[in-house]
Amino acid sequence: MFEKVEELTKEIKASVAESQEELERYRLRFIARKGELASLFQQLKDVPNERKREFGQAVNEIKKLAQDRFKELINGLENNQNNRQASDLDLTLPAEDPIGAIHPITATRNRIIEIFKRIGFNVSDGPEIEDDWHNFTALNFPPNHPAREMQDTFFIEKDPDMVLRTHTSNVQIRLMQSQKPPFRSIMPGRVFRNEAISARAHCIFHQVEGLYVAENVSFKDLKETLYYFAKEMFGKDTDIRFRPSYFPFTEPSAEMDISCDLLKPGTCKLCGGTKNICKGTGWVEILGCGMVDPNVLESCGIDSQKYTGFAFGMGIERIAMLKYQIKDLRLFTENDIRFLGQFKTEV
Ligand code: PHE
Repeated sequence: MFEKVEELTKEIKASVAESQEELERYRLRFIARKGELASLFQQLKDVPNERKREFGQAVNEIKKLAQDRFKELINGLENNQNNRQASDLDLTLPAEDPIGAIHPITATRNRIIEIFKRIGFNVSDGPEIEDDWHNFTALNFPPNHPAREMQDTFFIEKDPDMVLRTHTSNVQIRLMQSQKPPFRSIMPGRVFRNEAISARAHCIFHQVEGLYVAENVSFKDLKETLYYFAKEMFGKDTDIRFRPSYFPFTEPSAEMDISCDLLKPGTCKLCGGTKNICKGTGWVEILGCGMVDPNVLESCGIDSQKYTGFAFGMGIERIAMLKYQIKDLRLFTENDIRFLGQFKTEV
């Protein structure tokens, strides 16, 4: 009889239940009223008196063991089922929120390209690491000319000087060297200046420059082109104004402002009525422009008697900040998902 207890103990310890049926078989055998343990209790009366106590204890122990094991088997089976549910996941179903957002700088760049493409501009590209000649000298910045100081530059090598381009004008030079006019092209790209990072400035930012060189290109063409751009980008009721300015590579040069809604009823599309962008003037600067200086055309082998051209350049960050009312330029590079997630509709 003691052997029987030992044998059943081993069986209970080794038992498994991989399904409800196996669990039920275990229950019937070891837990139920008519199971094997119940019959052990009945055998108690046949045990000699001096061993009754010992046998009774053994039977009680095995009963407890059987119940504990039963609980373990139930838990094990439940976990198993949960796991199975997890692995039953259909990985081919679409994710709940699978759509990322296009970065506002990319969205703005694409929009600018799209607008200029409609009026015949193509897109040109060029190197971000540039020699001094393409970044400065060919653009009419003589050596030691104070105009070079307008743009704080990262030098990669000295003699010969290699720089991180300070503007995308180097692409204008490369275009004029490699093709014959007429051409109408825009140059989007990343540029670098040694500036302290703040809400309004960064050492890495993006520009789109444009160049149109052909016979008889005049300042009027420049104005019409940029007027069209401003209206398409900021809305039909946008006005523009030009203020005289200076760039070494254009003559005459100007800075262009767009009107905000300050002077019109309703809330302003740029500041929402706070006036903190136009400082109460009703005008906001968005780009620099001018007629290409004949010296620049000549340094690229283009006959400045025959051809004229206009050029312009704008910061993509600035346009994006105005368009989306973004107050701090650093947000563009911080990769904060709470910021980027707000541009989902741009996809
Ligand atoms: N290259 C100028 C800048 O980066 C912008 C510009 C381009 C101005 C073309 C006039 C004409 O500041």
